[in-house]
Amino acid sequence: MYIIGGSASKNIAEDLSKILDQPLADVTIKRFIDNECYVKINDDVNGEDVVIVQTTYPDRNIIEMLLLQDAAVEANAKTVFLVIPYYGYARQDRKFQEGEPVSAKAMAKHLGMNANGVVTVDPHKDYILDFFDIPAYNCSAVPEIAKHLKEKKVEIVLAPDKGAAGRAEKAAEIIGCEHDFLEKKRIDDKTIEIKTKKLDVNGKTVAIIDDIISTGGTMAKAVNEMKKQGAEEVYVACTHGLFVGNAAEKLGSAKEILATDTIITGFSKIKVAPVIAPVLKKQLLE
Ligand code: R5P
Repeated sequence: MYIIGGSASKNIAEDLSKILDQPLADVTIKRFIDNECYVKINDDVNGEDVVIVQTTYPDRNIIEMLLLQDAAVEANAKTVFLVIPYYGYARQDRKFQEGEPVSAKAMAKHLGMNANGVVTVDPHKDYILDFFDIPAYNCSAVPEIAKHLKEKKVEIVLAPDKGAAGRAEKAAEIIGCEHDFLEKKRIDDKTIEIKTKKLDVNGKTVAIIDDIISTGGTMAKAVNEMKKQGAEEVYVACTHGLFVGNAAEKLGSAKEILATDTIITGFSKIKVAPVIAPVLKKQLLE
């Protein structure tokens, strides 16, 4: 087996290589003067299982992924297995309006063309895996995030909305604390309050966990409301930290921001390779 790290996910490829004790392939990845991408696999992968690790965000990394896959196929790799730590376009998982694409499905169709299997981490919705025509697996970073939150002595884990409640519940189970989700309550015509469904956060150390922090708007609203309602400290955690624009500033009243390394930023304090490695081991090495 050879593991290839794309530009967006070299860190995870290196971690997987160490955990699985499998070699990293030597690859050349560069951009031409006009910014078109050039890739070359320098090792001989003929007859080998090739694992390509590449977050498909932003768009330039999708092109790189497609070219790496083709390079592996052209070199007669036995199989090509994709590790997509952050699967971009997952939030457009249906047509919200006529005339729109189902972007998550379009990506799956194209990424799956030259691959035998794929694993992603905390995709926006699990059913996105069904868009692939090849075996597709999900693994969750929540247990790794929960380990960090446990060290912070978190007493309540909150989801910013009902859709993310399962994530908060799973983290709380691991930490051994309570969990809840936030919901919007209309007070009058002009006022909407964000409240916990059942728990009182007054005087508590809480964590709010979501799959993605993009502009930070969702999380900032939740943090500020919990502070207003008396939470002592508010930790913010997510799997995929995009932190677009001034997202981090918006989260200024949080005690700490924790994200994984599916997208590398200054907040990537949690590694996802430990949750990906068992999937690769089971599918390719056993
Ligand atoms: C939405 O369904 C997601 O789970 C996140 O809550 C959302 O994408 C976060 O976006 P933003 O940081 O821009 O509010």
